[in-house]
Amino acid sequence: MSKQREKIEVFEGQVLETALLSDDGGTVLCKAGTIMTPDLIRRLSNWVVRVEPGKKKQDEDETVPAARMNRDEILRRLEFEEIVSRKTRERAESSQGEFFDKVRAGQGGLSLDAIEDAVAAMVEETPDDPDVPVKLFEMKQHSSYMYQHCMECGVMGSFIATNLKYPHKDVMGFAMALMLHDVGILTVPDSVLTKKTALTAEEWALVRGHSERGFEALKKVPGMDPLALMTAMGHHVYADGSGYPESVDFNDLPPLVHLAVVINDFETLTAQHGPFRQAANLHDGVSILLRHRHRYHPTAIEQFVRVIGFYPISTFVELNTGETGVVVRNNPDNLFLPEIKMVLDPEGAEFKKEIIVNLFEDAERRITAVRSDL
Ligand SMILES: [Fe+2]
Repeated sequence: MSKQREKIEVFEGQVLETALLSDDGGTVLCKAGTIMTPDLIRRLSNWVVRVEPGKKKQDEDETVPAARMNRDEILRRLEFEEIVSRKTRERAESSQGEFFDKVRAGQGGLSLDAIEDAVAAMVEETPDDPDVPVKLFEMKQHSSYMYQHCMECGVMGSFIATNLKYPHKDVMGFAMALMLHDVGILTVPDSVLTKKTALTAEEWALVRGHSERGFEALKKVPGMDPLALMTAMGHHVYADGSGYPESVDFNDLPPLVHLAVVINDFETLTAQHGPFRQAANLHDGVSILLRHRHRYHPTAIEQFVRVIGFYPISTFVELNTGETGVVVRNNPDNLFLPEIKMVLDPEGAEFKKEIIVNLFEDAERRITAVRSDL
């Protein structure tokens, strides 16, 4: 009989520094870098035991009565930065729009020059400091959902790849690939894309074919990066075989395309500009991805959550104390316990002084809910 070893102490949100091995050391139960979710801790209960993270009490502070403010007002006052400036974003939107319009019109002679320059400016501005509170999405309404979806994915791709310390050349290629990934949708009539009732089998086949048609359209452009071609073809390919096109093998796709799949789904889930449904808040978007993590490459989903956090920056959270705060920084050692700026006391009054609470060190406060509205 093998000797039972002591259980390893873990806490929710911990990122494993080393792999967790079976008792005989022959099986990797969890790879290094795995995030300890409540579900995972339960499933590994023969090997790990859940503990509370470090504790440190935050000083109390006075509050002043104030009328409840709305979320936008608070976010404006918190001065979260745009990932890229308005001017640079408009330049990228304009070059992307021109490119897409030419594809839509079936024009030849497509050139990447303008869009490449715009993406270079975008990547140049992307902050590589994870402590900078950024707005993850621009809320401006664009006339075309697909144009804005690609734009948001491009900005998010630049942000994530930069923070994962990919070389500049790869960040450029990735941002560009995401800016162009849905170009094949231009071949689907608006009547199908905006249809409120169920699609027919033919219409659905038309939609699913956008990956291959996007690939074909981009292939005609001189100098197109192979990553952009593979992203157009592979951005709906899942590990469990539920995606499309079926001809593409998940295991043949490079790591950045796997990451593009995650970003594409996250943007779609949380898009404030989507035509069909209520957008999920950023935290719910991450939770949904994690619930379906079997669809994604494990490295890609881990990289994504590591940068964006379990409670993404700008998420409003309610605490067990009745207070409300907004996430301003993620704790790299525990994604479940971010740093928050206190916003409202239990009576809904605004805090007078700036109070930052690191939930990793504060044993009295715990997140109990995420607030979509204040
Ligand atoms: Fe797509």
